[in-house]
Amino acid sequence: MVQILKSPEDLRAYSKSLRAQNKTLGFVPTMGALHEGHLTLARTALAECDACIVSIFVNPKQFAPHEDFDRYPRQLDKDADLLSTVGVNAVFAPEVDVMYPKDFQTTVSLSEVTKPLEGEFRPTHFTGVSTVVARLLLLVGADKAYFGEKDYQQLQLIKQMAKDLAIPTEIIGVGIVREKSGLALSSRNAYLTTEERPIADQLNVILKTMASEFKSGAAISDIERRAAQKLSDIGFGKIDYITIRDAETLLPPTEETKSHRILAAAFLGKTRLIDNISAD
Ligand code: PAF
Repeated sequence: MVQILKSPEDLRAYSKSLRAQNKTLGFVPTMGALHEGHLTLARTALAECDACIVSIFVNPKQFAPHEDFDRYPRQLDKDADLLSTVGVNAVFAPEVDVMYPKDFQTTVSLSEVTKPLEGEFRPTHFTGVSTVVARLLLLVGADKAYFGEKDYQQLQLIKQMAKDLAIPTEIIGVGIVREKSGLALSSRNAYLTTEERPIADQLNVILKTMASEFKSGAAISDIERRAAQKLSDIGFGKIDYITIRDAETLLPPTEETKSHRILAAAFLGKTRLIDNISAD
């Protein structure tokens, strides 16, 4: 059975004991409600490091008041069982007042990388993410930490933050795990109704069409307009963005752009779905 650690002291003692045995440590931060995408991160960590710690913490700081913090799925026992099956060594599952004691005062925020896309529609989200991830990375002290590419902008900002703050953990992005239909795995897929599922599957199909139009030289504005129209036609509600961007800056491509990324965020009923693929 995987060991459950509840306090920073337990966590530090645990990582220290691994260090004493000269073992390398991989770390996978999560908010729980684990799926195959998270398990792939843990398996990658275990393939590259001697041991793996997974954190499970639904971080209140990254949810705006109108978002789904209260209904976000919580299932620690089930998650711990799943992690045991892949050989994860320990789970760090702190309570909110352990992660953010009463006198907690620090906020970590990044400028440029957090401005476009998610930053426009969820203006407080990334500050919550960078604050919790900085604290987790420093508490765990892993050699490598693994993040899914599904949250592509999150991955870029965490790489930037680790570089800026000289956090001595290598940040590694791992490719998106998808259903056979192409739907990117997400804990929030659990909110989708049976009727919404096949519509959700189309999001990735539309992104792939955008990639092939882009490769055949169509104008970006036309590709984006057609894709947004298609999403509305099939039943998506509010579309936050469906766009082709510079894969590094996440801004509209320029002459200097080396690689392109197609990214989308849109509501299907009450569920906000995000996805992204390479355009090159
Ligand atoms: O990607 C997530 O699940 C969360 O944003 C993270 C990185 C665990 C921080 O709470």
